Parts: sequence; C-alpha cells; structure tokens
Amino acid sequence: MLSAITSELELEAPSTVTGVSVRKAAMRDIPAILGLINGYAAAGVMLPRTEFELSENMRDFAVAHAGGRLVGCGALHFYSPVIGEVRSLAVSPHVKIRGIGRNIIRFLLNEAQEYYLGAVFAFTYVPGFFSRVGFSEVERGALPLKAWKDCLRCPKFQNCDEIAVLRVLDAELWDPAALSSPDPDLLIQLPTKKKID
Ligand SMILES: CC(C)(COP(=O)(O)OP(=O)(O)OC[C@H]1O[C@@H](n2cnc3c(N)ncnc32)[C@H](O)[C@@H]1OP(=O)(O)O)[C@@H](O)C(=O)NCCC(=O)NCCS
Repeated sequence: MLSAITSELELEAPSTVTGVSVRKAAMRDIPAILGLINGYAAAGVMLPRTEFELSENMRDFAVAHAGGRLVGCGALHFYSPVIGEVRSLAVSPHVKIRGIGRNIIRFLLNEAQEYYLGAVFAFTYVPGFFSRVGFSEVERGALPLKAWKDCLRCPKFQNCDEIAVLRVLDAELWDPAALSSPDPDLLIQLPTKKKID
C-alpha cells in the first residue's frame, strides 16, 4: 500500500529529528493541518485552506508526526495521468530545517512513483528548499494544467510571484521536451510581477 516509505529515490540526508514518522493523513488530522497551513497563510506565505477544502482533498495529504504531535503536512494532487503537484507543504515553525520537509517530499515522491507519474511540480516561494530535494526551476507557463485549474481563480493571478519547480521521475512517462513545446491548445500566458511593474 501507499502508507510506508519504501524509497528508491535518493534524497540524501535522513531526518535529523528523531522519531519522525510520515504517513497518509486521516480525517482526524484536519484540525492540526488547518492550524499549520492557516498559520503560514496569515503570514502570507501559503494560501489559506478551509475545513471543506481539506475534507475534499484529504486523500492527497501526508502528515509527519514527532513526539505525538503533528509537525508537518504535504499533499500530492493529480493533474493528468502522468503529472502531479506537491502542494500544502508545511512544517511547524519550531522544527524547521531539521529534515522533516525532506521526509514529507520523499513520501510524496514515492507515492507519485507508485501511481506511475512521470513528473511532479510545485509552485513555491521557497525554490531553495525544492532545489535541495531534487526539483529544478521551470517556466510557469509551461505547466498549463495548473494555470487552467488554479491560477485563473487565484486572487494573485495578475501579480503572481511564485516560482514553478519540477522533478522528472520517469522521462519515458513524462517527456521533459513538453516544457519547451507545451500543447498550444492548453497554453495560456501567465502574468508575472515583472511584466506589470
Ligand atoms: C519549506 C519547508 C516545508 C521546508 O521544510 P523543512 O523541514 O524546514 O526543510 P528541511 O529541513 O527538510 O530542508 C531540506 C533542505 O532544504 C534546505 N532548506 C529548507 N528551507 C529552505 C529555504 N526556505 N530556503 C533554502 N533552503 C531551504 C535545508 O537547509 C536543507 O538543506 P540540506 O540539503 O543542505 O540539508 C518549511 O520551511 C515550511 O514549512 N515553510 C513555510 C511554508 C512554505 O513555504 N511551504 C512551501 C509551500 S510550496
């Protein structure tokens, strides 16, 4: 099943917080996940989520626990048969930079492989973290599915400052060339901060 970390992916260092476990989320985790995400949302670094949204998408989520407390969360959301998005990634402020985010990413990437995804992307303000866990920066407009599904509804659509990052898991399933020649029928131009300044 999807609950265990059986990684073939090399993401370097193991957790430096002892006793951290990552597992699929359950409905009982919703209050703690909401508190974590919306705490960061209040500081403007993540989009806020509602209990309804979390309930709808709870099967996407994984959670990290340490010392009996929820200390992190992240979600893998499917976009097409071959590509998915890591989103709602957050680690409690008091245990940041101790490997928990890396462990959650490892869990989500393993899940992506179990579902035979060819690539996983994220839109983020912390490209430095994603670079450390094997993602590369890409042009935002090269991920049209994201644009159609989320960006058009986002309040920051005209002034987006997030950076798109991508990790290819299997180039036979998801051709990196798709980045340089995306399907023109799906392509829309995403405004950037630079263009409107
Ligand atoms: C981003 C976040 C999830 C990272 O989790 P974390 O547990 O602190 O990160 P880790 O300890 O696993 O870090 C893994 C590596 O990334 C580096 N890293 C972590 N945060 C970083 C950042 N903001 N900028 C650059 N590098 C970073 C670490 O130094 C570490 O490097 P190493 O390979 O040299 O050891 C966490 O800081 C967080 O919750 N931030 C606020 C919410 C947020 O921005 N979420 C992302 C939404 S897309």
